[in-house]
Amino acid sequence: MVCTINIIIILVILFVIKLGLISILFYSDIRAAQKMDPAAKSFLEVILLYQGLHALIYYRISHALYKMHLFFLARALSQLGRFVTGIEIHPGARIGKRFFVDHGMGVVIGETAIIGDDVLLYQGSTLGGTGIVKGKRHPTIGNNVVVGAGAKVLGNITIGDNSYIGANAVVVKDVPPNSTVVGVPGRITKQDGKKMDVSLDHVHILDPIMQSIEEIQSRIDKLEKK
Ligand SMILES: CC(C)(COP(=O)(O)OP(=O)(O)OC[C@H]1O[C@@H](n2cnc3c(N)ncnc32)[C@H](O)[C@@H]1OP(=O)(O)O)[C@@H](O)C(=O)NCCC(=O)NCCS
Repeated sequence: MVCTINIIIILVILFVIKLGLISILFYSDIRAAQKMDPAAKSFLEVILLYQGLHALIYYRISHALYKMHLFFLARALSQLGRFVTGIEIHPGARIGKRFFVDHGMGVVIGETAIIGDDVLLYQGSTLGGTGIVKGKRHPTIGNNVVVGAGAKVLGNITIGDNSYIGANAVVVKDVPPNSTVVGVPGRITKQDGKKMDVSLDHVHILDPIMQSIEEIQSRIDKLEKK
């Protein structure tokens, strides 16, 4: 009986030490999660219940192992993290400060992806490659970027600082800083706070099928008004 109580006390002490260590080592990431998720009520809630933070902890350790060339161990830990959190971050990826994955499930970050500071990823987003070529094949994400739910950013492209990738967008070309991108393929709808006139934008030409559907929709609207 005394032995069981002692074991419980030791486990509680170890748990408190673990919480303390996470609070100190991941302080800025936890604060970032609180800032980026209005639903986060407390520091403790983020530490205990946010799989975005847990995935980051697994990543930071596996990345350290990766840098020591312990590739198998790094990948094994990363896979364990994926199993526990539903978020797959390759240990080779480079991630900046105050990174946060909200909701998390289904996020994939490839081996050669580079992520700046203050980046927010929502569930189902992918920073992936476009083929089986070796070398740098995943995106470089600038500082203060948001990647919306289900968005796919593919290939060795660069997303400029302060950009917003809309939910479900598929981005396969570079995005300049301060831009908002939506749709498939992704097109810039806002830059430096100003709405883009898509009809004058010959670089990010609209999907012709979408244009036809929009034309039909506007005709239906006119007919319905009549
Ligand atoms: C893209 C986004 C940032 C909106 O940016 P915004 O600059 O405020 O854009 P607006 O709302 O003014 O919309 C601009 C145009 O893009 C369209 N649009 C907005 N979001 C879109 C999206 N994800 N996909 C396709 N079109 C989109 C709007 O309908 C609008 O079209 P219109 O000009 O023909 O009317 C936002 O809609 C978005 O997708 N956020 C992701 C948030 C997310 O993933 N949350 C998950 C929480 S769990």
